[in-house]
Amino acid sequence: MSMQLAGLKDRAVVVTGAGRGLGEAFATHLAHAGVRVVANDVDAELAERTAANIRAHGGQAVASGHTVTDPAEAQALVQRCVDEFGAIDGLVNNAGLNYEALPWEENLDEVRELVEVNVLGVMYTGIAAVKTMVEQGRGGAIVNVSSGASLGQRKLGVYSASKGAVASLTYSWALDLEEVGIRVNAICPLAHTRMVWKSERSLRSCPPDRTPSRIAPLVLFLLSDDAEGITGQLVRCNGPQLHIVGQPYLKSPILERQTWDTETVRRAFDEVFSAHLEPYGLEKRVPPRLRKWTDSAPHTPLRTA
Ligand SMILES: NC(=O)c1ccc[n+]([C@@H]2O[C@H](COP(=O)([O-])OP(=O)(O)OC[C@H]3O[C@@H](n4cnc5c(N)ncnc54)[C@H](O)[C@@H]3O)[C@@H](O)[C@H]2O)c1
Repeated sequence: MSMQLAGLKDRAVVVTGAGRGLGEAFATHLAHAGVRVVANDVDAELAERTAANIRAHGGQAVASGHTVTDPAEAQALVQRCVDEFGAIDGLVNNAGLNYEALPWEENLDEVRELVEVNVLGVMYTGIAAVKTMVEQGRGGAIVNVSSGASLGQRKLGVYSASKGAVASLTYSWALDLEEVGIRVNAICPLAHTRMVWKSERSLRSCPPDRTPSRIAPLVLFLLSDDAEGITGQLVRCNGPQLHIVGQPYLKSPILERQTWDTETVRRAFDEVFSAHLEPYGLEKRVPPRLRKWTDSAPHTPLRTA
């Protein structure tokens, strides 16, 4: 089935964080479709396991134990793909970390480590791949891995911010790279992996039948020539559901004055924006000022006849 996708066979693709979980499923699925894969993971043994497993099933894969958090290693990772397969046609920017913490309980070392992998790692690897793709002059495709959490989730501030950064990077790079024929999209997956096992809440929304391999066909499609003309998109798949994630926009009414002082800002909120405040976060929480109008429980009892 996947073999029917246009222009993927013999292409060379780097998948980061491919030692387990979603990355392993992506690498395996791509290889099954004839793609030549660099299976990268900072856990080099796991990366080698994925590559060996692909080769044992007749696919083409090499392993890389580079970390994406170091620019020189990210560059070496892309170079490994070029050395081994003669080019790099695609990148799946999948390596990532996750933890839960309330803002006042954050461990600052954990904050830094997460941002280094989820934000800098995606940038370093993406930049290295794009440079090489531009030099090659035959375009390419990037699939970044964002998350539904980028819309805002409790106890996931740092993680959701890192995934919001990935979403913004995707939109911006899609703008920059269209003219050189590189498409950039992002996915918001949900799958039963180690990342989910660690969180009770995630486990509730993600039963074991939500396997990582259920997300892999989406990644394969986005990398293939069948996705021509599709760029700058955030696509969510949680197993059964597949949909586009809407993007933030400049919301009307847009008020205009020569200058805004505190008093006119206050009046803008009192007289206009109060009714336009946005429900926020993935759970679409209504801000308190609007909530008093939208609460289903009436503040004064309704008269009944
Ligand atoms: N599992 C989900 O439901 C879910 C939901 C939304 C987004 N995601 C995202 O999907 C991606 C994969 O997540 P997963 O659930 O498979 O997690 P996972 O923890 O099972 O796998 C992530 C892999 O990335 C590797 N990695 C970590 N740091 C690295 C580094 N510096 N360099 C190279 N590799 C590194 C890890 O060793 C690990 O093998 C992540 O970006 C995650 O944020 C997952």
